[in-house]
Amino acid sequence: EKSGYDHFMLKEIFEQPHTIFDCLRGRLDAAAGTITMAGVQNNIEQLKNASRIIIVACGTSWHAGLVAEYVIEELCRIPVEVEYASEFRYRNPVIHKGDVIIAVSQSGETADTLVAIEKAKEQGATIFGVVNVVGSSIARISHAGAYTHAGPEIGVASTKAFTAQVVVLTMIALKIAHEKGSIDNKRFMHLLNELQEIPEKVPAALKDSEAIRKLAEKYKDAKDFLYLGRGYNFPIALEGALKLKEISYIHAEGYPAAEMKHGPIALVDETLPVVFVATKDSYHEKIVSNIQEIKARKGKVIAVITEGDEIISKMADDVIVVPAADELMAPLLSVIPLQLLAYYIGVAKGLDVDKPRNLAKSVTVE
Ligand code: M6R
Repeated sequence: EKSGYDHFMLKEIFEQPHTIFDCLRGRLDAAAGTITMAGVQNNIEQLKNASRIIIVACGTSWHAGLVAEYVIEELCRIPVEVEYASEFRYRNPVIHKGDVIIAVSQSGETADTLVAIEKAKEQGATIFGVVNVVGSSIARISHAGAYTHAGPEIGVASTKAFTAQVVVLTMIALKIAHEKGSIDNKRFMHLLNELQEIPEKVPAALKDSEAIRKLAEKYKDAKDFLYLGRGYNFPIALEGALKLKEISYIHAEGYPAAEMKHGPIALVDETLPVVFVATKDSYHEKIVSNIQEIKARKGKVIAVITEGDEIISKMADDVIVVPAADELMAPLLSVIPLQLLAYYIGVAKGLDVDKPRNLAKSVTVE
């Protein structure tokens, strides 16, 4: 049931205030200063003493894993590697007994992810599943896990499952850090409050959908798009580009903003829209100079910014505003306008956004 929306994808984008809330419910209690996750608690020794955490996933779930890499390394001081499941499974990876593998999957049936964790399990690693579909193969084969509780996702393009994955992975990081003592209490409490407030902020990130629809009209005939971000927003640049490719069939590339000088900047001319994921964080000054570099080459800049950011507002051709949040939580808000932009460009081109060509909702063949 599309509940009055034109497509499942749009419905699922707009469900995110609720799905994020459901994901936190019964787990995060900011007033009490607790995170209750049985799967984490029951394996806390392995998790907090892990010599390494390896995240395996595909597609959008791999992007959620990349966000988690930044968050876990920052809070838990445990080295994290994020692997494409298909590459990991075939290359005879080095796995030690003390390693923890986190498998991230919406469907829980992705063949490459499933085989990757089977192999790692045989070699003695602890497997932790972050899965949406209850009772799915990846959930069953994992030693422990945490469900994302996003509800059924019908649109082929993953939207609400992604934000739920990021929320669960962030809670896991916070809990490990707290148990391990790698975060001080003040910051722990601050981040719990910030995370708890996200569901209330998501509607503000959705409210400009009409303006984003108009932007989609303006840019729908572009041949290529570049998406740039730094830090916690770098994976969001990748995710924004993937969404656009899937739904609108426009070629798009996501890059770390500073990396553009090493190649992609050669693409920039007056026909290239460049989407900057540039919310107010510790990288802000750096990304402002990256925007200048694009403007100097006449690229068209569309920037996702924090409300009140006068600096980037003045530089960009178009801006999309999201509410302020701690930089660790920023991806949960900055991804939303990018989901909407891809959706509206697909619709403006008359494409079947719920079932894009050549794609399957879950890739059960390698
Ligand atoms: O079910 P999974 O999360 O394991 O699926 C992984 C990818 O196939 C999936 O995220 C795919 O990239 C989506 N179509 C992205 O929108």
